[in-house]
Amino acid sequence: MRRTLFEPFKIKMVEPIRVTTPEFRQKILEQAGNNPFLLHSSDVLIDLLTDSGTGAMSDKQWAGIMIGDESYAGAKSWEHLESVVKELTGMPYVLPTHQGRAAERILYNILGGVGKVFISNTHFDTTRANIEFTGSTAIDIIYEESKDPELDLPFKGNIDIESLKQLITQYGRQKIGAVIITVTNNSAGGQPVSMRNVKDLREICNQHNLLLVIDGCRIAENAYFIKHREDGYAHKSYLDIAKEMLSLGDAFIMSAKKDGLVNTGGLLTLRDEALSVKCKNLLIISEGFTTYGGLAGRDMEALAIGLTEVFNEDYLHYRIRSTAYLGEHLKAKGVPVVWPIGGHAVYVDAGKLFPHIPIQEYPGQSLVCDLYTHGGIRSVEVGSVMFGKYDEDGQLIPAVNELVRLAIPRRVYTQSHIDYVLDVFDAILELRDQKRGYKIIYEPPFLRHFTARFEKC
Ligand code: F0G
Repeated sequence: MRRTLFEPFKIKMVEPIRVTTPEFRQKILEQAGNNPFLLHSSDVLIDLLTDSGTGAMSDKQWAGIMIGDESYAGAKSWEHLESVVKELTGMPYVLPTHQGRAAERILYNILGGVGKVFISNTHFDTTRANIEFTGSTAIDIIYEESKDPELDLPFKGNIDIESLKQLITQYGRQKIGAVIITVTNNSAGGQPVSMRNVKDLREICNQHNLLLVIDGCRIAENAYFIKHREDGYAHKSYLDIAKEMLSLGDAFIMSAKKDGLVNTGGLLTLRDEALSVKCKNLLIISEGFTTYGGLAGRDMEALAIGLTEVFNEDYLHYRIRSTAYLGEHLKAKGVPVVWPIGGHAVYVDAGKLFPHIPIQEYPGQSLVCDLYTHGGIRSVEVGSVMFGKYDEDGQLIPAVNELVRLAIPRRVYTQSHIDYVLDVFDAILELRDQKRGYKIIYEPPFLRHFTARFEKC
């Protein structure tokens, strides 16, 4: 394994991290109900909660902030953003929003409704929530083998084409609101989707006259995997690969907080004029006028620049390899991780790491708490705390896997920070058998992981 990863940037401004002790963190975590979502970020040393909106902007983006045009209508910064997005997507209608879920709310409000069905490789939580909120059903279909966390396959994010055909026959074209391909597939380990898969999907959508939406907030990261794993793409640029994929879609939704390399922003782009008019009406009612959505001019300027920087070869190589660096070294230590490593995050299989902790005592929450107390690292449980349900007798219906996500913010942490994370895992591994589970002492009715409180068993 190559040890040194070259970070292709210099640091021009620093944000100090307050170094704390395990005793302090133990106390603070207990006060926060053993739920890292309830911690103050100033008490966190390395924040791996999400890669969303947590990245660092470049000097050029900060310079763009200073020349942001704040005009209400037809701002120069909007024209800059619109031209970059049209060039990337090849779609004529571009709608800016304040973040990804706002774009989802607009599109799925129009396409959804009671009795409609949406089919995706995996709907992200907010995508599913926006669809279900309209009374529609959201169905996830990835290949069976992709569900095995250990199987080494190049494109575990792919949609299951055979299941899609069956669902189309089962529900009929009229009932299907859209087919959504999420690249990379965040909720399935950040795994990539192949170009072949999207081409096959396009063909089926053509045959049945179905709308194909690309949820592409990590489209540049996905392009990296295509170039390095799929036949015929080795000599193409990342930008051309992304353009080719987007040319296959009817609509593109992007949370710009990821591969837009900005702290907030979202996009909805469309090919169909009639649909774009409906969406623009909702945009104006709920987000803002069509030339700013929910964004300031300076946000749009920074996003226009970010969308160009993200396809830089050195950046993408560093980005994907630095995530893999953490994952590969964890695996080498014997920490079970979802394999292969995805683009934006490493997913640790806490169920396998702590086999002595019963699922009802949430092994993932135990690891999340340990990472914080041992090392001040904040992560998120993606297991039965997040996805668990109760049966009629109040017994836990567990999630498929008990995972913990270590999401890597873009251009924020150096290799030494990641080496530090690896050292913290060493400390946890040494005490592995002594780790205990947690019980929930408070939980709200929905999305309990955000505010639930826990006690050690
Ligand atoms: N789609 C995908 C695939 C996402 O990963 C996210 C956000 C969204 C849509 C919603 O975008 O947050 O801008 O409204 N994912 C974040 C995460 C929150 O932590 O994975 P948003």
